[in-house]
Amino acid sequence: MQIAVPKEIKNHEYRVALTPSGARELVGRGHTVTVQAGAGEGAGFPDAAYEAAGARLEADVTSVWREAELILKVKEPQPEEVARLSKGQTLFTYLHLAAEEPLTRGLMESGATCIAYETITAPQGGLPLLAPMSTVAGRMAVQAGAHSLEKAQGGAGVLLPGVPGVAPARVTVIGGGVVGENAARMALGLGAEVTVLDKSIPRLETLDDRYQGRMKTVFSTADALEEAVRESDLIIGAVLVPGAAAPKLITRAMLAEMKPGSVLVDVAIDQGGCFETSRPTTHAEPTYLVDGVVHYCVANMPGAVARTSTQALTNATLPFVTALADKGWKQALADDRHFAAGLNVHEGQVTYRAVADAFGLDCVEAATLIG
Ligand SMILES: NC(=O)c1ccc[n+]([C@@H]2O[C@H](COP(=O)([O-])OP(=O)(O)OC[C@H]3O[C@@H](n4cnc5c(N)ncnc54)[C@H](O)[C@@H]3O)[C@@H](O)[C@H]2O)c1
Repeated sequence: MQIAVPKEIKNHEYRVALTPSGARELVGRGHTVTVQAGAGEGAGFPDAAYEAAGARLEADVTSVWREAELILKVKEPQPEEVARLSKGQTLFTYLHLAAEEPLTRGLMESGATCIAYETITAPQGGLPLLAPMSTVAGRMAVQAGAHSLEKAQGGAGVLLPGVPGVAPARVTVIGGGVVGENAARMALGLGAEVTVLDKSIPRLETLDDRYQGRMKTVFSTADALEEAVRESDLIIGAVLVPGAAAPKLITRAMLAEMKPGSVLVDVAIDQGGCFETSRPTTHAEPTYLVDGVVHYCVANMPGAVARTSTQALTNATLPFVTALADKGWKQALADDRHFAAGLNVHEGQVTYRAVADAFGLDCVEAATLIG
């Protein structure tokens, strides 16, 4: 199969959809891999590494797209990329269509088959192609929070682990899912005193079991949140209510109860944020102050560690890419109903219920297309 890897063009996106090792695997299976010149540079993969892996390099973006049967990307296609897609091509990338009507309609008009990373499911539950980025963001949240606690960043001047004779900082993580567990684990590793709040008792049980009481688990109530606000040096927002905007769990009025120079890291900012005073920021200027509290609200945290993120993402996508390349989209999805959950648009029709419902469009179930 002819596989193309264009360079990402979204602002400040440095990841790439395939590493040189991934290219080598595909070439070894008899496929042709064309990589747009410079596509891997931002993630630390030079053109020469792709060439050494047996991929073709192509400088002309039009040729990269035109000749491909399967196009691998990271971010949702930008308008000029949508215009390059055509019927018979398969696009495999993050799409997040339920929040993007113009993109949904553009992909329908293209006639292409569009499979979204984020709606693929796993037999054991969860979203296997979303989890790697949540893992990265959760781990980064503590790094970002620790840095923000430094005086020069507007923080209280507190070192997370403390030192002998000085108590460690108190870190509260709200939401103990993939982001939350990874954040809590990092904070524990750095020697902080860690509390995780969640609404799900099974989730709290899992964390309690896994960490043998080394982190406190607390059922998330208004009381628990008020206590967290009063006591914490660093609060990490990591809640997710599937299909809904994040609930505003800390209001502006509550900031008055926080210690001056304490830090809020709102990882859920990509779903609107879980603190009332959160607004999206970028890596160029990640933080701002409200009422003496430092806010870190970067919406694409994994972008800052493009190399690790690329490797984590492509480790997770490669088995699916291989199946698409070896069998074609129809057979690959027919063989794996969890993979089939990734099909969002095919030849002008929406094939994912939540996307169709979001825009009042008809939905053709993926199962009826693949038999
Ligand atoms: N900013 C970024 O760069 C970035 C990167 C990755 C993920 N995210 C976001 O991080 C958030 C968390 O993602 P995840 O993968 O960990 O989701 P997840 O589904 O694994 O975990 C979410 C957890 O929040 C809990 N929860 C829901 N409502 C709650 C409440 N009121 N109080 C306490 N807990 C509550 C759920 O029970 C669940 O355990 C999502 O909004 C996701 O989009 C952001």
